[in-house]
Amino acid sequence: MVSRVIPVEPFDLVIFGGTGDLARRKILPGLFRRFVAGQMPREARVVGAARSELDVGAFQAMAREAVEEEVPRRDGAELDAFIERLGYVQIDATGEQGWSELAFRMREGVVRAFYFSVAPGLFGALAERLHGHGVAGPDARIVVEKPFGRDLASARALNATLAEHFSEGQIYRIDHYLGKETVQNLMAVRFGNMLFEPLWNAQYVDHIQITVAETVGVAGRGAYYDQAGAMRDMVQNHLMQLLCLIAMEPPARFEPDAVRDEKLKVIRSLDPVEPYHIVRGQYDRSEECPSYRADVDGLRSRTESFAALKVHISNWRWAGTPFYLRTGKRLKARTSEIAVVFKDAPHSIFGVEGGRHRNVLSIRLQPNEGMTLHVTIKEPGPGGMRLVDVPLDMSFAEALGPEAEDIPDAYERLIMDVIRGNQTLFMRGDEVEAAWAWTDPLIAGWEARGDVPKPYEQGSAGPEDAAVLMYREGRKWREIKA
Ligand code: BG6
Repeated sequence: MVSRVIPVEPFDLVIFGGTGDLARRKILPGLFRRFVAGQMPREARVVGAARSELDVGAFQAMAREAVEEEVPRRDGAELDAFIERLGYVQIDATGEQGWSELAFRMREGVVRAFYFSVAPGLFGALAERLHGHGVAGPDARIVVEKPFGRDLASARALNATLAEHFSEGQIYRIDHYLGKETVQNLMAVRFGNMLFEPLWNAQYVDHIQITVAETVGVAGRGAYYDQAGAMRDMVQNHLMQLLCLIAMEPPARFEPDAVRDEKLKVIRSLDPVEPYHIVRGQYDRSEECPSYRADVDGLRSRTESFAALKVHISNWRWAGTPFYLRTGKRLKARTSEIAVVFKDAPHSIFGVEGGRHRNVLSIRLQPNEGMTLHVTIKEPGPGGMRLVDVPLDMSFAEALGPEAEDIPDAYERLIMDVIRGNQTLFMRGDEVEAAWAWTDPLIAGWEARGDVPKPYEQGSAGPEDAAVLMYREGRKWREIKA
């Protein structure tokens, strides 16, 4: 298989927050990879815009260092050619400095995109100035990073501010999980195969587990994280998107609004979550690493670094099938997985000795992307009919060969989609608002109850109560393993 790279149109991309962490770790290295792959055309230009007083040489040197760090195997001449395409403008997001220069730098006849990789408090000011200084016309696109608000009211206010200057079709709200190859594969698996769809409902599915486990802690981003917690940082967006893709009805076409309409219906069908169906946790100190509270410098912090919850979708397809979501920092392994656990066969012809066997389809999002279907077969050998579960295991890397190694990172893909003008993998304003409308009462509930997160051991699967959430219903979380 030969991967097909179609170059996007020439563009001017301005990165506000061009010297920041995201620009260095993801955006600039990602653009470089797309440049090498031939997808970012030679006529494209990238302009870093930030408060720092830098000349273009200093910005280019910073970008070079960032790319060198993130892209170990690279061609020096390609890197030189990429760096030549970078410019820099010192800009004041809330003042007037730098805006006329930026306007002057923009070329006619190319796609204009503006990446807001800055504190959310500056989004409104940027939108206003981009518009006011005539830098962004009706064809320009703006890319907005999360967090998109911290509750429904702030998300609404932000949507309203952006809408004063840009139409919905110009706004690209990033949830980088949607840019992950395997997350898109969820749609391919569901809607490209006949095999699964007839079984994809409450009649056959006992429950679905969605796990996004991380080994990292929050050190370094404590100030932000302690105001957010796992619910706002991960569940309201990334896990919610996974839930939507796994649960939604087939859209009529793989087109932006068709897909986003179906996702929105899922979010709007979510039931409120009972307090006893939510478990929050906070990692304790270990021999090597400080506790969550020490990491965020908040000895009394009640913010959760772990959340597990049982969620119901009240619609025809899913009534009665629970979805269990779980995410946390400093857990046993870095792994993201969705497991669809099917019901028992209605009658066992093998009697009780046959035991209880369930088919499980597990989709590994990262790392070691792939799919496993657990099926029941006869244990080989004499001595009667003993059953055993075996995995039909597929690793995408093995199945697809070298092509799978060259898969673009989520940010690379999403930035290219912005230039192409394809909003399928971006969140629409109403989607974000609906997600907050569901999340807000859960957070308000535990705040009103004065709930304190349960401590958990670093390197574990989270607090014991999360296991109990499943056990008491005769279910079990899948093991967290790399
Ligand atoms: C970010 C969160 O959106 O996603 C982080 O703010 C989290 O807290 C990260 O670590 C996880 O992303 P990934 O791609 O490493 O799974």
